[in-house]
Amino acid sequence: PLVSMKEMLDTANAKRYAVGQFNINNLEYIQAILQAAQDEKSPVILGVSEGAGKYMGGYGVVVAMVRATMEAQGTTVPVAIHLDHGQTFESCAKAIHAGFTSVMIDASHGTFEDNVAVTSKVVELAHFHGVSVEAELGTVGGTEDGITGGIMYADTAECKELVDRTGIDCLAPALGSVHGPYEGEPNLGFKEMEEINTVAGVPLVLHGGTGIPTEDIKKAISYGTSKINVNTENQIQQTQKVRDVLAANPEMIDPRKYLGPSRDAIKETVIGKMREFGSSNQA
Ligand code: G3H
Ligand code: ZN
Repeated sequence: PLVSMKEMLDTANAKRYAVGQFNINNLEYIQAILQAAQDEKSPVILGVSEGAGKYMGGYGVVVAMVRATMEAQGTTVPVAIHLDHGQTFESCAKAIHAGFTSVMIDASHGTFEDNVAVTSKVVELAHFHGVSVEAELGTVGGTEDGITGGIMYADTAECKELVDRTGIDCLAPALGSVHGPYEGEPNLGFKEMEEINTVAGVPLVLHGGTGIPTEDIKKAISYGTSKINVNTENQIQQTQKVRDVLAANPEMIDPRKYLGPSRDAIKETVIGKMREFGSSNQA
């Protein structure tokens, strides 16, 4: 069923595994990720950036495609449709009214007081609709969907205050992670993560899940990380498959013949992550 992230993440937190958020770009991504979740008996979060939402024709189209695909595939595992890096209250409100079951309000780029103010507004509307809310503190490095940032660590006291004053369901404290591939090994602030986990009282979210070694994934989960976002890894694997198939078949023009195999590549990648995150057989 379509559900919010609230129960999913509280359960994951209590049982010490993480639910993957996999970003979607089109119907093939939806099909591949939902099939992976069902095969693995895993809860799953479909991440939709504002740009990807626009690309697919709007939030309403996204919800309709996900609902129809779940019905066609006979999906029984818990699925959340989550707005990824929502930039404004208006964007979150649009997603909520279109039927998203979860939203992220990313107001980490302004002042702390502005973050508290807009996040509170989003929580009020979202919770009225049974929709969960993720907020962010500090900044994730790298670029996603044209949004570029330098790494800035979240402050532990601010994390506690943001949770207490807004009532968010989960928190993404930026602690050295990066959107897109890492240059060298990632250097995550585990000491800070442990501190924040002790005071925040909500499940933590790790952005920039592509390229983080398994050992660090396990450590993050042990410090209360219950949601891990993966986008770039699926794009790399999918696009590589399209390139390979087209290179081997220069005459090919039927999109199903190259998008089909690339859909399988997404599914395999997602299954690998679900096993690594420990969410397989938890639904
Ligand atoms: O919000 C989405 C993510 O944080 C994805 O990061 O593209 O590095 O996997 P990634
Ligand atoms: Zn992110």
